[in-house]
Amino acid sequence: MEAKQIRSQYLSFFEQKAHHYVASAPLVVQNDPTLMFTNAGMNQFKDYFLGNKPAPWPRVANSQKCLRVSGKHNDLEDVGLDTYHHTMFEMLGNWSFGDYFKQEAINWAWELLTEVYQLPKDRLYATVFEGDEKDGLAFDQEAFDLWKAFLPEERILGGNKKDNFWEMGDTGPCGPCSEIHIDLRPQSEIDQLPGRSLVNQDHPLVVEIWNLVFMQFNRMSDGSLKTLPAQHVDTGMGFERLCMAIQGKTSNYDTDVFTPLIQEVSAFSGKKYGETKETDIAIRVIVDHIRAITFTIADGQLPSNNKAGYVIRRILRRAVRYGYTFLDLNEPFLFRLVPVLAEQFDGVFTEVKSQQDFIARVIMEEELAFLRTLENGLKSFQHIKDHLDGKVIEGSKIFELYDTYGFPFDLTALLAREQGLLLDEEGFKKALDEQKDRSRKAAEQEKSDWIVVRPSDEDTRFTGYDTLKANSRLLRYREIKEKNKSYYQLVVDVTPFYAESGGQVGDSGTMHFGEEALRIWDTRKENDLIIHFSNTLAKDLEADIRCEVDTPRRIRIRNNHSATHLLHAALREVLGTHVQQKGSLVAEEGLRFDFSHFAKLSHEELIQIEDRVNEKIRANIPLDEKRNVPIAKAKAMGATALFGEKYGEEVRVITFDSNYSVELCGGTHVPSTGAIGMFKISAESAVAAGVRRIEAITGEKVLHQMREAEYLIQEILSLTKAT
Ligand code: SER
Repeated sequence: MEAKQIRSQYLSFFEQKAHHYVASAPLVVQNDPTLMFTNAGMNQFKDYFLGNKPAPWPRVANSQKCLRVSGKHNDLEDVGLDTYHHTMFEMLGNWSFGDYFKQEAINWAWELLTEVYQLPKDRLYATVFEGDEKDGLAFDQEAFDLWKAFLPEERILGGNKKDNFWEMGDTGPCGPCSEIHIDLRPQSEIDQLPGRSLVNQDHPLVVEIWNLVFMQFNRMSDGSLKTLPAQHVDTGMGFERLCMAIQGKTSNYDTDVFTPLIQEVSAFSGKKYGETKETDIAIRVIVDHIRAITFTIADGQLPSNNKAGYVIRRILRRAVRYGYTFLDLNEPFLFRLVPVLAEQFDGVFTEVKSQQDFIARVIMEEELAFLRTLENGLKSFQHIKDHLDGKVIEGSKIFELYDTYGFPFDLTALLAREQGLLLDEEGFKKALDEQKDRSRKAAEQEKSDWIVVRPSDEDTRFTGYDTLKANSRLLRYREIKEKNKSYYQLVVDVTPFYAESGGQVGDSGTMHFGEEALRIWDTRKENDLIIHFSNTLAKDLEADIRCEVDTPRRIRIRNNHSATHLLHAALREVLGTHVQQKGSLVAEEGLRFDFSHFAKLSHEELIQIEDRVNEKIRANIPLDEKRNVPIAKAKAMGATALFGEKYGEEVRVITFDSNYSVELCGGTHVPSTGAIGMFKISAESAVAAGVRRIEAITGEKVLHQMREAEYLIQEILSLTKAT
């Protein structure tokens, strides 16, 4: 059975069991400070588990792109060395939101594995949670009894908190879990040593394939567990491992998920897979990492020097470095694998195929830049060697190579070995720990748990499209302590404050708690929760609140947002439809728009774009705003959707002339384009390979700038006259 078929059978099995299919969320997480990348299928459903939001369907299934390279779940260092860990992998999942629980989850898992996929029953093991004294949790007898219907007792094993109590992060939804493991060793080995003793022992052929989590608790920041309002199911099956089991292979890399990529690497490197341990590891690292790199770029994250972008840059460098060292690849090569992935995922995750050239270009430029760094690093290594007193390279020097040139320790070790030198590994670790400490301290934030003032199952109602004032009440708040400041985050039942999203900055304004006025200095989203930032807390938390958004500021932001739409459409008209939004910032002072395009814009092009936008402003096109449009219908209307953006089943469509600009957008806009007044491009630059940036201003800001320029010219003229 081919991988594609295995995936579609999973989805149709659960569709028959009344599950609703939900598309994979983007890999890069927005609006969740606890998470950088999607690391489990359940991330996008977190609010349903916590009861912050009612689930729109009681049962859901999907295949989720996941990345486990940072935070609580981090497999990066194992990848390539073994045959069953990955950076990016697909997780097949089925969920119940307060609907079915342990019985159905276990019965259906068994039915799918043994009847549909026909995996041999005698090779399967189940683990159940053995309980934990500290958390006050008992042995999961219910799961044990349910498994007894299918498995003999000696193949149902107890597991500790580490393996059998699943938690998303340090805080958040969690619960006991029951894992299914499979023994893929040859029968002769099994006869000598039953798989029982190898479950959860990192054996490459006795592996976990499916995790059934019974979500019952929320882990609070003080470490305690709070029972959730309802019981849920969250299952996750490693797709690549499942393919290995079904296709009768002994490595994930031998399945058709990876073989097309491996063939391509062999073709351009001239190194066959399966010949030496070192080249095999390098090939595995490359074919694994290219998936993580490609899919994150496809989801809108470019390699960069901070946060998610930096993680991707490091993954890319790790792959280049393995190719360089072990496969003698000293020209860019990773980018050549993008077309293979585009083909493989055609019809499944179409974001790769539709941006294939762009992704390949970004990767190639990154590779080129890193290869240059690598060469400089080698020179620096030579310099260190030439000035060495004795035979040991100091920790601080190894750290310099690591930090400045991206040389991992093992590369320096390899070079040192070749030159008969030794390394001060302890000193390097110390320097590394010191750096980690510095960045941890800088980012440290202490959050109290939410303090509920009024319990509510409802989401905050956002009224800020229609009004800038509202009467509301406080639902909950918490205190945040950072290095040099502390402040409060407030959640209310009704709010006109727009929370930062889609590039538009958050609103500021005032919340009057009776007579007491609280300054709201920002509004942001955490998942779907709207959070207002205030330095103080009201004395009477139960008072009726009058919310007032800073109106002049919001109007300027709104003008800039509509101008961004007009600009986007003009760019596509003038430069071509390959232009895709890659990021934007819509603020009070102006706007910034990043888009895919390979060349610097000429003066003529900039003038043409500016003129076109101003023409559309003067035409005073009325806003056509449609809320709650089914996503399929919106796409049929020709609405531009962004890759990497998470859209619900229903979306908001913003149109300024259906023949000119139609976008899916949650932002705030002008009633008609004339309100923008005027539009002026202030800068054009490159952000990254294949991505250009336009900065622009609107309205009175254009006049202010013109006036300033005029004064400056006059001053220069008078100075020239005086001399
Ligand atoms: N959340 C669980 C996991 O990631 C099951 O989906 O393993």
